[in-house]
Amino acid sequence: MATKNDKYEKLKKIRDELLEFKASPLYEYRTRNKYFPVIGEGSHDASIMFVGEAPGQTEAKTGRSFCGAAGKFLDELIASIGLKREDVYITNMVKDRPPENRDPTPEEIALYAPFLDRQVQIIQPKVIATLGRHSMNYVMQRYDLDLELEPISKIHGKTFETAYFDEDHGSHPVTIITLYHPAAALYNGGMRETLITDFHILKKFA
Ligand code: URA
Repeated sequence: MATKNDKYEKLKKIRDELLEFKASPLYEYRTRNKYFPVIGEGSHDASIMFVGEAPGQTEAKTGRSFCGAAGKFLDELIASIGLKREDVYITNMVKDRPPENRDPTPEEIALYAPFLDRQVQIIQPKVIATLGRHSMNYVMQRYDLDLELEPISKIHGKTFETAYFDEDHGSHPVTIITLYHPAAALYNGGMRETLITDFHILKKFA
């Protein structure tokens, strides 16, 4: 069993590597704008890990995941299942802000995804809840659920059982839950209700 200190040191190493991640095409944009990489935050022993897409401007300015308008709604959703932000872990697939909030490119996803894989191995969540179709696509393919992948309009709010592997402890079961991105609810009131309903599925893991 990893101690709190092991987890802290391993997560700190991820942060240090990302701070110097010159191999990324987003590094120059980050430093020029005095942005921060957004590594993730919350409990290192969380049962539930949320995975968004990439930081927006508010996140890049502060270095904190989901702290803008979409983040406020995410906080409400987390509260609706009786938890606080400090009880879960919140991160993104890509850790630097893409210019003008464009979608991350396949090259950027491939470069940053190994950091997310390591975060999963360190935190060892019981559930990975994807926020939006980009993180859904990556996480489902990464964790051997390619055959179950469908458009998010069909599989939002569903659970998928799979496993991840780590060299020290072998295979760990994990449930993937596919959710819409909370930003979608900012422009579409119907989506807000859908997310609130879909979130209930997380209650049993809270
Ligand atoms: N959208 C995301 O996907 N992640 C954030 O951290 C903020 C907005």
